[in-house]
Amino acid sequence: MPETNRAVGLDIGTTRVCIVVAEKDEFGKLKVIAKGSSHSDGLRRATVVNINKTSAAIKTAVADVEREASLVIHGVNVALSGAHVHCIESSSEISINQSGIVNDSDVHRFLEKARANIQNLDVNHEVIHVIPQEFIVDDQGRLLDPIGMAGTTMRGTVYIVVGLKTRIRNIRQCVERAGLKIGALTFKPVALGMAVIKEREKNGGVMIIDIGGGTTEVALYLRGAIQYTEVLNVAANDITLDIAHGVDVHEDVAEELKLQYGCADTRLNGKDEDIVIPGGEGHSQRTFPRSSLTVIIEARMMEIFELVRDALIGSGYYEDINAGVVLTGGGALLTGVVELARLVFGLDVRIGYPEALSAGSQCDLYDPMDATVMGLVAHVYGGNYSGDHSFATAREVTKELPPAPVEDVLVVQEQGVAWKKVVDGLQDWWAKL
Ligand SMILES: Nc1ncnc2c1ncn2[C@@H]1O[C@H](COP(=O)(O)OP(=O)(O)O)[C@@H](O)[C@H]1O
Ligand SMILES: [Mg+2]
Repeated sequence: MPETNRAVGLDIGTTRVCIVVAEKDEFGKLKVIAKGSSHSDGLRRATVVNINKTSAAIKTAVADVEREASLVIHGVNVALSGAHVHCIESSSEISINQSGIVNDSDVHRFLEKARANIQNLDVNHEVIHVIPQEFIVDDQGRLLDPIGMAGTTMRGTVYIVVGLKTRIRNIRQCVERAGLKIGALTFKPVALGMAVIKEREKNGGVMIIDIGGGTTEVALYLRGAIQYTEVLNVAANDITLDIAHGVDVHEDVAEELKLQYGCADTRLNGKDEDIVIPGGEGHSQRTFPRSSLTVIIEARMMEIFELVRDALIGSGYYEDINAGVVLTGGGALLTGVVELARLVFGLDVRIGYPEALSAGSQCDLYDPMDATVMGLVAHVYGGNYSGDHSFATAREVTKELPPAPVEDVLVVQEQGVAWKKVVDGLQDWWAKL
């Protein structure tokens, strides 16, 4: 079989590892060929704290997808997230080549110069993306694509995404230990922007809020480009912990209660009912008012939205959100979350389904939890100027693949249990600092 340029996205979330293999159909739309996920518990707040567990989770998800679609995955575009990632605004100015018409190499020089302007700021960080916000060719400003424009000088502003080298190296290790090459790293809000918002919204001013397990990612797009991002260390798993405390149940039960009865807006409380809380661990079966569960969830979700609102007000962009708010991530699936967000922000709010990218395949693509991974495959084909676009590829195989390496994964996890406990303990302690 010939090697095909299929894009592979890998989102290593705090609760879920998700992988998607996609290609472009004849209409230029992304068509998902295979999709898989696995439970992830090697991360804390989007940061790797256990290499073995994380690479095992990646292996499981990859093996699933490879079997399902008879593919061998070589390289992946990996989402980057976590509070260690931050953004620096920079500017650049170059003389346009002698022909007087802006070409690719001018844009390249422009971006390299912007990157060089900040390169020596901090040796602990590495540059992930250099994203142009605006090109100004002589006196013509607000250009997003300056190729072909006539002029003598080009200047403009860029958005540079940087992350801590050590944290990024840990992600690389997990992916490489799972037998994959990293074709590109993409900051999660950049991927989200490719998955769930339309050009019109990008131009008018839109805020994306991804409520994941351990982190809430925020991105503000305006005038066609990313202008502001924020990663908050409070998210949907905190709701589960609040329920565990408030109802006095184990986290697993709390998660079940959230998924089955959860609502984020007390205004939606109808006639109250009692929820049966199963017995166990010294407790007998009992009941808990559903309305009180909503009070617990609303309080945390309200805190998340207020933090987002305050951050945006502080950034000076709040008044620019003319095209509303888009919610993604698992937290966006909670009943009442849209209503609560409307109340806090006083803006239009919708859920971000990565529907625009699908071409009617049988996979269930319409989940806001998959927005990131769908954005990753879109970014591989994106062709904008935001960094490395090496293809993350998958090749079809003709013979049947061996079964998923479940034993391998277990062996890795069980080797040196006592030592691993020490290491895990240290990593936990480190992560809590
Ligand atoms: N149907 C649902 N209703 C409410 N919360 C949900 C639902 N599905 C998932 N979640 C929550 O979303 C979070 C996981 O979201 P996800 O975007 O997959 O996180 P991550 O990318 O950080 O792994 C978990 O806290 C989970 O409880
Ligand atoms: Mg997610």
